[in-house]
Amino acid sequence: MAPQPKLDDTLLRCIGCGAVTPVAESGLACATCGDLLEVVFPQPSAKPLLDPARLKTLWRERRSSELPADQSGVWRFREVLPSLREEHQAITLREGNTPLYELSRCARAAGVEHLYAKHQGMNPTGSFKDTGMTVAASFARQEGFHWVACASTGNTSASMAAYAARGGLRGLVLIPEGQIAWGKLSQALDYGAVTCQLKTDFDGCMCLLNEVVQRMPVYVLNSVNPYRLEGQKTAAIELLEQFEWRVPAHVIVPGGNLGNSSALGKAFLESKELGLISTLPKLSVIQAEGANALVRTIRETGGKKLIPVQANTMATAIRIGNPASWKKAVRVLEATGGTVEQVNEVEIALAKAEIGADGIGCEPASAVTLAGLKKLVKQGFVKPRETVVLILTGHLLKDPEFTLKFHRGDLLAGTGYEKEAGLLNAQQRAPIVLDASVDAVLRVLEQAERAG
Ligand code: F0G
Repeated sequence: MAPQPKLDDTLLRCIGCGAVTPVAESGLACATCGDLLEVVFPQPSAKPLLDPARLKTLWRERRSSELPADQSGVWRFREVLPSLREEHQAITLREGNTPLYELSRCARAAGVEHLYAKHQGMNPTGSFKDTGMTVAASFARQEGFHWVACASTGNTSASMAAYAARGGLRGLVLIPEGQIAWGKLSQALDYGAVTCQLKTDFDGCMCLLNEVVQRMPVYVLNSVNPYRLEGQKTAAIELLEQFEWRVPAHVIVPGGNLGNSSALGKAFLESKELGLISTLPKLSVIQAEGANALVRTIRETGGKKLIPVQANTMATAIRIGNPASWKKAVRVLEATGGTVEQVNEVEIALAKAEIGADGIGCEPASAVTLAGLKKLVKQGFVKPRETVVLILTGHLLKDPEFTLKFHRGDLLAGTGYEKEAGLLNAQQRAPIVLDASVDAVLRVLEQAERAG
């Protein structure tokens, strides 16, 4: 007899042994081998609805609708998502709908002609996490959970806290003490989550959370949750729509726990399978040198065996040494022909300032994309005339301390990179303290005009 799912007809597949189970019988790991699960796409019941031309028209039409699910830049694409029993039950903050910007100065700095940023930091809580959280939190509520929880370097916790509050759920946040940016911590507090700062790193928080869920009926909203990745897929589809379904040559993503690169890759592959596009962009992942588990895994084992690292970087969002979704990311790199690269703290800081000077701005972890692109152009992997999209994952205001230290010239103090501080001078704009006099301001203005 065919399996009879209790709650909905979503099927999950193990990425290790390939076992397929209905969602009602699954936790967040394969019951047979313990590996990660992914949502099977297309779900059998959705197949008849998936004509590509019809989908493109339908998704565009929904942009003029007043329905909350249509105004969400995630649920607008609901044909590629697992379906809720009741559409109006989605917990939505009208996430997604993020802008695609041309980055002209950054393009010159990187040596390419056509450079764009898909700014996922323009989501309601300021990071890409919202696109996944709306889906996973909605399913948590549908399944009757009272508590949701995550380990986080900051953005997941901010997003989860917001969606939990909106959905009437309680949120438990585990974060590494002293290692997350203040903007993110303040969000989790304001949205009412129970926030525990643990004396360990992100990887330690994740291990501890796995034990907590053994003892309490708490639903994990980290990116090991396959529903999170389904929601995050929609950023790739929205990007393709913004390009009027022309496919950019390269998409460049920061890598931490590797959920986002996996989700975006899944979306590109599924879009090709659906006939929405006929070629794939090369999806490449950039990591901080101090948190380079995927880079080492690819270079030293050909992607066969994870090499965990003791993570350390000022880009705290990606300070992760034992990435959960590494196998999914390796698969995406192989399927799209992308690559990996790592960048150091000075390169990250410089790239972040350059993105800022283009009038866009982002948090440090997002800036690894531009820093990595520069290297990929020098290596010839990215050709100057190819179209490149950087996925900017978090908003500039998430980590104001980093930005202020950068402009005041204090960022590299005590990091071992002091000798290279001069490389950042041209981008620094320290605030100027003056007497409150018109003449003093005019003098500064004239100096700035001369300096160009
Ligand atoms: N960029 C930002 C701003 C992030 O917050 C994260 C991850 C990443 C990139 C990396 O994405 O993990 O999917 O590879 N932040 C998580 C958190 C881990 O807890 O907020 P990934």
